[in-house]
Amino acid sequence: MTTKPFKNPRAQHGFQGRSCSILSVGSYVPERILTNAELEKMVDTSDDWITSRTGIKERRIAAENEFTSDMAAAAAQRAMQSAGIKAEQIDLIIVATITPDMMFPSTACLVQQKLGARRAAAFDVEAACSGFIYALEIGQQFITSRTYDTVLVIGAEKLSTIVDWTDRNTCVLFGDGAGAAILQSRPKSHGLLTACMGADGDKSDLLYMPGGGSMCPATKNSIAAGLHYLRMDGKETFKNAVNAMLTAAKEALKRCELDITQIKCVIPHQANRRIIEAVGERLGAREDQVFVNLDKYGNTSAASVAIALDEAVSTGVVQRGDLVLLVVFGAGLTWAAAVIEW
Ligand SMILES: CC(C)(COP(=O)(O)OP(=O)(O)OC[C@H]1O[C@@H](n2cnc3c(N)ncnc32)[C@H](O)[C@@H]1OP(=O)(O)O)[C@@H](O)C(=O)NCCC(=O)NCCS
Repeated sequence: MTTKPFKNPRAQHGFQGRSCSILSVGSYVPERILTNAELEKMVDTSDDWITSRTGIKERRIAAENEFTSDMAAAAAQRAMQSAGIKAEQIDLIIVATITPDMMFPSTACLVQQKLGARRAAAFDVEAACSGFIYALEIGQQFITSRTYDTVLVIGAEKLSTIVDWTDRNTCVLFGDGAGAAILQSRPKSHGLLTACMGADGDKSDLLYMPGGGSMCPATKNSIAAGLHYLRMDGKETFKNAVNAMLTAAKEALKRCELDITQIKCVIPHQANRRIIEAVGERLGAREDQVFVNLDKYGNTSAASVAIALDEAVSTGVVQRGDLVLLVVFGAGLTWAAAVIEW
């Protein structure tokens, strides 16, 4: 808990709303572990290369009959259990994902059915790896405006289905999993203080999946050409990630009149250890302030910071009253940073 004062940017200009807090978090990762040693047998790579370039040692891979909605529902159930929230209490479900079970209906609707959350409205958000903060900020609007009392926000991905397992440039980076948060207003807590979100469609070609949408629907040819796998310019993505995360994080801190020493824990998108270190260093954060778990899970896109936040909370790294900085980056390009009074 910080003792120095800070500003709540939402409580300005005669704001009449209420605060929005994360009541609880939960996460789920599939049982199956895919190690770097196993990848050495699949593509021309080495544990040494993957570890030194990315920091990733292993990732989780969902079973064939385990879908994004299953992982999302499992993470949600853990978050609900932790806060003692019943399915009937949930007013809205937002799922951030780039690997929905199907093009439609939304994965959020499938999660609603799996949870039995009959009263809840449900929709998906697509902001790639930035999706969880985008979804948190959308959910926050419904709470602060008093439209809804309880919102379930989930980041969930089965990236193993859009990775080309013969492409060493990408297949070593990604994994499957889900993280969830229950949003409510909590008396005397500032909760989600601010979220700075951004996008740059000019750079949409740095990380994308050309096939499967209306531009390139599935045909024998599109599948033969591998258009239903993600494509990435790794070097450019790296550079843009560092700059965008840094800018968003600095802006979020500035809005709250916070300096980095007041932040208990920085939880960055878990894409690459070198990106995380570059952002942490340039923010002036100590190494022990920055949460890292990508060695176990790789990049799980929209699920990444949600899983990391759950681990930070469940291991006691983050405690009630602490200030947390989440910062993410993804395809789009998109980025976001959020400051939370936990
Ligand atoms: C992908 C990434 C790890 C590559 O690291 P890098 O430092 O840029 O790579 P380097 O330039 O050192 O190495 C590239 C070489 O390694 C090779 N290489 C790529 N993947 C490899 C692998 N898994 N194993 C061994 N060699 C590999 C390339 O073929 C290339 O070889 P070449 O020079 O003979 O053409 C890095 O660019 C990255 O993490 N980018 C961001 C990706 C990301 O975070 N995406 C998600 C954003 S949400």
